[in-house]
Amino acid sequence: MPTVRTAAADPLTTSGDLLVVGAFKGGIAAPGVAAVLDALGLDEVPSTASFRGEAGQRLRLAAPGLAVGSVLFVGLGRMDAVDAEGLRRAAGVAASEARCLPGVERVVTTLAHLHPRASSITALAEGFVLGGHVERRFREPRPGEADLTATELLVLVPSSLAAAAQGAAERGVVYAEAAVRARALVDLPPDRKQPPELATRFAELCSPGCEVTVRDEDWLAAEGFGALSAVGRGSAAPPRLVELRYRPARPTGTVTLVGKGITFDTGGVSLKRGEGMAGMKADMAGAAAVAAACSALADLGVTVEVTALLGLAENAIGADAQRPGDVVTARDGQTIEVLDTDAEGRLVLADLLAYAAESRPDAVVDVATLTGTAVAALGSYASALFASDDDVASGLAQAAAATGEAQWRLPLWSDLERFLDSDVADVANIGDEPGGGAIVAALFLRRFTAGLPWAHLDIAGPALLSKGLARDHLPVGATGVATRTLLAWLEGRSAA
Ligand code: BES
Ligand code: MN
Ligand code: ZN
Repeated sequence: MPTVRTAAADPLTTSGDLLVVGAFKGGIAAPGVAAVLDALGLDEVPSTASFRGEAGQRLRLAAPGLAVGSVLFVGLGRMDAVDAEGLRRAAGVAASEARCLPGVERVVTTLAHLHPRASSITALAEGFVLGGHVERRFREPRPGEADLTATELLVLVPSSLAAAAQGAAERGVVYAEAAVRARALVDLPPDRKQPPELATRFAELCSPGCEVTVRDEDWLAAEGFGALSAVGRGSAAPPRLVELRYRPARPTGTVTLVGKGITFDTGGVSLKRGEGMAGMKADMAGAAAVAAACSALADLGVTVEVTALLGLAENAIGADAQRPGDVVTARDGQTIEVLDTDAEGRLVLADLLAYAAESRPDAVVDVATLTGTAVAALGSYASALFASDDDVASGLAQAAAATGEAQWRLPLWSDLERFLDSDVADVANIGDEPGGGAIVAALFLRRFTAGLPWAHLDIAGPALLSKGLARDHLPVGATGVATRTLLAWLEGRSAA
């Protein structure tokens, strides 16, 4: 991973391979750039056919007379619209440029002068680390596909910020490295992360910061996790439950995080069609985000006690696979009529939410790639948030805004719960009316939360990015979405 340092230094005399400076739409130089233009012998920010200072644009120039190899102008868009996310993206552009230049060891930037505050430095560090990581490929890397492992980002800061700067930068690195760990696991091919193997990887990720217990299929069956067990029955690779416990010295509260970890979702006997099955290796993205967040709690000094429950299973078809019409019994004794084996995520979560509620934490948050309907409603852009508690909802909304992860709250309309009525069991796992599928799924989950303050993040859309929405700090493929939101939320609850 790249490292990030901060210094209250002059960009004209600071040595490095690449100096990254900002330019707004219309060619307006960002604060701190005038002297650099002078040294380059330029009157103004250069404007070309492909560089007009629009967000995401870039222009690299040789830098005779400066202590750096070249200068990269990064477009920031409208001057009055740049925020922390704008800086995060700009740092991502810098990282992707650095990846394409051979032998870059140090990137220097004046971008923190734009909004001289700690959150800007954190965002720059985050964007650079996120943009500097390239997913593992099972072939020879092509140009620009190498990680920025040996590269350092030096963030130049005004002297007023010098004291707080390094801590702010390190916080950004911790956030981004956590998200990168989630990305790596979500991008992993499904044959390389079946439940037992993925459980081991999660355990490695989270120890020594957390106590780790891995429960096997026999324990799950004996302890009444009938729904999770049923989902796992179609696969030759048995299901697992990973329990993580982060115990700070003097806990200021307790939170349980729950993650859906379907290592591949064929739909089961209610088999998905080809197109719908593409990308289903990412059906463990909720569990990955939760585990990745847990791996960073100690580094951030979170003071909330966190328990994480990761439900791992492969939703496959096999001789012993569950059938539409089966009735399974969840951990809390509720019986579920499985009308559609492709609605498996909510089965896994039913057991885990019921188990989570047994220890009565202050709040429960689950993260899951739960419904295609959430994608239909919000596109791949945003996560859908459902919450039984307004404080938890507003805390998560604040955290999402601070980290640049788009999130939109949808309602839990109790009137729709009737759709889940079953003649033969307490509840059916799909609704018998069309429409509102993401809401109906969330209402199903709510039945298992025992009335605790609870929120559900449906990340089916943003877990994987396609070309249209990809950016330098979030390239095509897995995003690690919700990792950073969870961290910001837990940090927020620590401060309180
Ligand atoms: N893993 C899928 C949801 C999903 C869809 C995630 C698209 C990412 C992209 C989930 O298990 C599923 O299959 N949901 C069904 C529910 C239906 C059978 C009620 C769906 O959304 O179609
Ligand atoms: Mn499914
Ligand atoms: Zn699924």
